[in-house]
Amino acid sequence: MSDRSDRGTDRPSQGAPPPRPWWHDAVIYQVYPRSFQDSDADGVGDLPGIARRLDYLTWLGVDAIWLSPIYPSPLVDFGYDVADYTAVDPVYGTLGDLDRLIAETHARGLRLILDLVPSHTSDQHPWFQASRSSRDDPKRDWYLWRDPAPDGGPPNNWLSHFGGSAWELDPRSGQYYLHSFVPEQPDLNWRNPEVLDAMAGVMRFWLDRGIDGFRVDVIHNLLKDEAFRDDPPNPDFVAGPGVNPYHALLHRHSTDQPGVHGLLRWFRRVIDAYPGRVLIGEVEYGSSEERLARFYGQGEELHLPLNFSLMTLPWRSPVIAEHLARYDAALPAGACPTFVIGNHDRARVATRIGPAQARVAAMLLLTSRNAPFVYYGDELGMRNVDLAPEHQRDPWGLRVPGHGRDPVRTPMRWDASDHAGFTTGEPWLPVGDDAGTENVARLREDERSILTLYRRLLALRRGDAAFTRGRQRVLPAAGDVVGYLRGDGKRRVWVALNLGSREVEVVVPVPGTGEVVLSTWLDREEEPVGGALRLRADEGCVVVFGGGEGVPAGRWPSSRLVA
Ligand code: GLC
Ligand code: MG
Repeated sequence: MSDRSDRGTDRPSQGAPPPRPWWHDAVIYQVYPRSFQDSDADGVGDLPGIARRLDYLTWLGVDAIWLSPIYPSPLVDFGYDVADYTAVDPVYGTLGDLDRLIAETHARGLRLILDLVPSHTSDQHPWFQASRSSRDDPKRDWYLWRDPAPDGGPPNNWLSHFGGSAWELDPRSGQYYLHSFVPEQPDLNWRNPEVLDAMAGVMRFWLDRGIDGFRVDVIHNLLKDEAFRDDPPNPDFVAGPGVNPYHALLHRHSTDQPGVHGLLRWFRRVIDAYPGRVLIGEVEYGSSEERLARFYGQGEELHLPLNFSLMTLPWRSPVIAEHLARYDAALPAGACPTFVIGNHDRARVATRIGPAQARVAAMLLLTSRNAPFVYYGDELGMRNVDLAPEHQRDPWGLRVPGHGRDPVRTPMRWDASDHAGFTTGEPWLPVGDDAGTENVARLREDERSILTLYRRLLALRRGDAAFTRGRQRVLPAAGDVVGYLRGDGKRRVWVALNLGSREVEVVVPVPGTGEVVLSTWLDREEEPVGGALRLRADEGCVVVFGGGEGVPAGRWPSSRLVA
């Protein structure tokens, strides 16, 4: 176990302003452990496999790794159904393997973040086994049990995210229990102080081993209406193929209760006993900028509420520019924004907006003011992998057709060998037809590849405080172009992103002559820019201006299309 106090950066020292927390400048890389690297030929990725690939992550230039759940699980929801919070599933290795991974991560100056799934357990968890054993069991109230409605049906109309009622009848005791996801994921009762004590113990177990923080699952789901009132119907809902029936109701009573902020302060108190650890939270998709801002509290709730807007908003310049500006304006002072462009739950970014725009999205992610999250494989331009029906494993897809998440969870592609170097056995999901060319070994040799672009963007960001500490001013969209200025007093940087497929010329919003330092096409550098900048289809450019005074207050000239 390592002593992390030397790395803690958020302990105030007397006189000096509090040091800047490391995560304000970090890029966090999400590893889906089943699919990163297999080390024992069972076809499933594991902790020793991840340890073997740490040099790749330092070569790439990220700062921290977040592992999706590695705990023992019957895998009904692929690890988000936890059967033991303080152990490692044997398929991924042992606690010793995790300790080694922590040590090797830290030896390289990287941080390691674990997933925490507090809202529900697996139905195989001993807590639930006890809870369901009888109405009098001391753990009965650790979960949400209710009598049937007068007609014998579920206690109310709440729906599961994954289809059907959120209630399951347990014939042994004649009561229903609540499961916001699949029936094998009973929801814990976060109004019971014993549950809080137990979860604090879980958090300390991992923090004591030296991990650098948690990404907390579905925090908006922790608390429900105390009176269990019905959710009202959603007047805008239109059923149809691919539409999740969950949205037939407005989840006014089943999620996002105001009390969740008190719980977040409680999580922070547990974390804050360990200097330098980060608390990241998954908040609901589609949250407004103002709602995202509320999850920071006054700086005493989440450090980093995940912002999925770039995955959910239409990829159009006025929409994206407006979001950037509103988000900056909504955040409380000192709050660090976040962006996520890919994860294990949603379509790959290269599938959603296409491979050319995926490069533009990478530039936005890594040059705008935020703590960026990179999903493994997005740096290779991985697309959703078409899977035959027999490969479908995800319970969501099995219950609500069209919602399967397996296509975004396929193995990482390392080289052109069998199964892309992921495993010498049979991979748990196929690697996909294009893995022979779209792999790390080939793309790192290609100086125009998306992998090279990611590495260059990460280096640019690390090497210039204008990108991390700099202020930001978002410009109004100009035609298809999204633009913003960054500045740290030494330099001004203008980022111009063409979200469209036509060549455009944009007025440069900074006086004087700058220099293109990076294009998403990776073929124009050291190019002087003044007055106007021509952007090709799907092109983003970073233009650096020397000797400025930061981003001055007042109105910047806005960009406009002239061709
Ligand atoms: C989160 C996870 C998702 C999981 C769900 C239920 O949204 O990211 O993968 O299915 O929570 O735990
Ligand atoms: Mg394995």
